[in-house]
Amino acid sequence: MEHEITLVVNGAARRARVPGRRLLSDCLRHDLGLTGTHVGCEHGVCGCCTVLLDGEPVRSCLTLAVTVDGREITTVEGLAGPDGLSPVQRAFEECHALQCGFCTPGFLCTVTALLRDNPAPAEDEVLDGISGNLCRCTGYQNIVKAVHRAADLLAEERAPSAGEPPRDGEAS
Ligand code: FES
Ligand code: FES
Repeated sequence: MEHEITLVVNGAARRARVPGRRLLSDCLRHDLGLTGTHVGCEHGVCGCCTVLLDGEPVRSCLTLAVTVDGREITTVEGLAGPDGLSPVQRAFEECHALQCGFCTPGFLCTVTALLRDNPAPAEDEVLDGISGNLCRCTGYQNIVKAVHRAADLLAEERAPSAGEPPRDGEAS
């Protein structure tokens, strides 16, 4: 039996007809054509398939598409803004935090949520935050550097730019 579902993916409502056992990862990749979400282990270990469900990282290979009918999903394709790559994406690029790139979409989603919840994580918080994502290539050092760099870029974005007049109540 198939079910008609609607997912709000990267801000747009997307409909799909799926069997009850369709994984969210397969639904995104095969039904909706969003192949940026990668599938590695398919049993919840590697984190490659991580997407944001209502803003929280989930393993899409452990999630049935029918159970998220009507919910908001952000995939790696939705991280960039109108001005280009997101700060997290820019930091990964700048810090050479990827080699083959297979794990990268999952890391980008995980780190985006991590820095939203903890804008200036300490080293152990970064390590803990990315501990659910596996990378076979990089040895992690540059990924950790990229998380700190992304935190800096996000802080710069939040800071009022030089020359901008202070808002009411702000010290000049
Ligand atoms: S593919 Fe989902 S955790 Fe590995
Ligand atoms: S860059 Fe190859 S698995 Fe992470």
